[in-house]
Amino acid sequence: PPLYVVTPTYRRPEQLAELTRMAQTLLLVRHVRWLVIEDAREPAADVARLLRQSGLPHEHLTAAMPEQYRKRRGAKPKGVAQRNRGLQWLRANASEGVFYFADDDNTYDVAIFEEIRTTRRVSMFPVGLCTKLGLSTPVVSSRGTFVGFYDGWVGGRKFPVDMAGFAVSVKFLHERPKAQMPFAPGFEEDGFLRSLAPFEPKEVELKADNCTKVLVWHTQTKINGASQPLDMKKFNDTNLPILKK
Ligand code: UGA
Ligand code: MN
Repeated sequence: PPLYVVTPTYRRPEQLAELTRMAQTLLLVRHVRWLVIEDAREPAADVARLLRQSGLPHEHLTAAMPEQYRKRRGAKPKGVAQRNRGLQWLRANASEGVFYFADDDNTYDVAIFEEIRTTRRVSMFPVGLCTKLGLSTPVVSSRGTFVGFYDGWVGGRKFPVDMAGFAVSVKFLHERPKAQMPFAPGFEEDGFLRSLAPFEPKEVELKADNCTKVLVWHTQTKINGASQPLDMKKFNDTNLPILKK
């Protein structure tokens, strides 16, 4: 059965670099289908080309962040509309397998995809470089039993985990027809996992050798301050981008 990798993405100078890196990671994974969902009303031609040229089985979808959240100052519910679009696609098109919310800027060891493939309901595992503690993970006793969660920000959450720290089986999703992600910055993961009720933290399937290995990192790409030379006219009819007018 396939592994569905659900990736929200949005327009910025770093986008094609992130998607290239991620595509080339996923090329090392068998039986994978990549759901790339743009925060946009229309799909971008260069994203479509990248996906096509990657040769990966994929779906190119769109779901724009609703205007009321986009206009908001401060924290925004990033990627939520798109992950819910991904859930909608899975409900309509998938019957088995496992899905994983994989942001476009994280770093993935290909081993994580093999780990989560056997998820029966909900699996969890450590995420490195996450919050100021540098790690977000289920806490597991030396006997291999679930004890709780370790995360730099608990915030009253029942599931204080990162988006990249869990995977869910498609069958389990079908049994939870109302499950979805809330537009609540900071509480997206917790809100989604709570919406899978009845489901308790102690029922989590522990992956990555009982959560002793980091196989995914919450890396963040530095924003590159792109600049343009002042006089572009002399570069007319060259490969360089020319300022119009
Ligand atoms: C933080 C949290 O640490 C993640 O666990 C959580 O998934 C994420 O926020 C979130 O709120 O969704 P952070 O690195 O700050 O992670 O977020 P980004 O990587 O900038 O964005 C998360 C995803 O949403 C990315 O795939 C990104 O491409 C996408 N995104 C971001 C949009 O689609 N639209 C935006 O305006 C911003
Ligand atoms: Mn990120």
